[in-house]
Amino acid sequence: MPTPTTAETRPAPGTSKDEIETPALLVNLDTMEANVREYVSFAEANDVRLRSHVKTHKNAELAKRQSEYGGDSGIVCQTLSEVEVMARNGIDDIYLSYMAVGRRKLERLVWLSEKLDRFATTVDGPGNVEPLQEAAAERGEDIDVILEVDVGLHRTGVAPGEPALETARFVREQPNLNFQGLLAYEAHVKSEAETQAEYETYCAEAMDRVQETVDLLESEGISVPEVKVGGTATSRYSGRHPVVTEINPGMYPFMDVGELEHRPFEVDRTDCAATVVSSVISTPSEDRAVVDAGSKTLSMDTSQLPVPRYRDDIEYVNASEEHGWLDTADVDGSLAVGDRIEFIVPHVCTTVNLHDMIIGVRDGRVEEFWPVQARGKVK
Ligand SMILES: Cc1ncc(COP(=O)(O)O)c(C=O)c1O
Repeated sequence: MPTPTTAETRPAPGTSKDEIETPALLVNLDTMEANVREYVSFAEANDVRLRSHVKTHKNAELAKRQSEYGGDSGIVCQTLSEVEVMARNGIDDIYLSYMAVGRRKLERLVWLSEKLDRFATTVDGPGNVEPLQEAAAERGEDIDVILEVDVGLHRTGVAPGEPALETARFVREQPNLNFQGLLAYEAHVKSEAETQAEYETYCAEAMDRVQETVDLLESEGISVPEVKVGGTATSRYSGRHPVVTEINPGMYPFMDVGELEHRPFEVDRTDCAATVVSSVISTPSEDRAVVDAGSKTLSMDTSQLPVPRYRDDIEYVNASEEHGWLDTADVDGSLAVGDRIEFIVPHVCTTVNLHDMIIGVRDGRVEEFWPVQARGKVK
């Protein structure tokens, strides 16, 4: 018997949510659309481009819609193979917010840059600038380049101020590279800020550092057409600063427990569109039930655990690969094998990457499917 394809095993449109085989990754379409509208309105009100990061869902259809909602704003990818999947599926304006390194990868990058209407990549120092220049020169192609500046996350990025100026000059000296501006991914604010006022202050401080760098570059005759900033939590604060031209949030359509915990003052369970529906497979004791959603279904790469979307009397306390342990001591009565429990996912980007398919649900019925086309595309 041939192995059934994902398309053959997915639930038919119109299927009740209660009949979807578990575990499954669902997205509540009304909630997702409300989240998207919120970020579109924010971008319009603050006159910034909303170029969504598609690393969260890895699906070209959703990416196309997000680009359209942003006024043909294009998309952002984190890996070159994500760019390839999106390009193959008709998206022609892509920013790669990551450094491509290695000969084969740079050949792929230059080829993509030739094919796409608009493409830019990221650098932060001579170590990734020089090989990019060489690869571009070999094919006679000009590549748009964004310089990443480290405004506090201390991941990648050159320090703001003089070091950024020096690196921008170095990029400008390369005959096949076009300096297009700065990336300032300010995600450190998520771990430092607790209140809304702190988000406002810390994001503004980070953007002031970017402004100083832009002023310095421009005073040296280097124009900075673009300033891109990051994520779901911070871009709605950073995006208010006049230096910012573009926001690149990724998780905002779906949300997750991380967003709930980091911003309890403005995110609640009703904002969380992505859930995993699971079934109780065993009730070994009065205070314990086990569901069919463990760490191969719900990624727990952060400190968060899954949170029940609709119940307060159950706690997800531990996971092995295919088992999720629930503390049911507070349940009035008891859970039974077969009971269905829906969880908000701890970290949505890595959870999506565990699934073949995202199932869109409206009013309790299956409406749409999105294959996770760039699943596993880490190269
Ligand atoms: C450079 C960059 N921009 C934007 C994002 C999107 O951020 P978020 O997932 O918080 O929406 C990420 C996420 O990792 C990122 O690395």
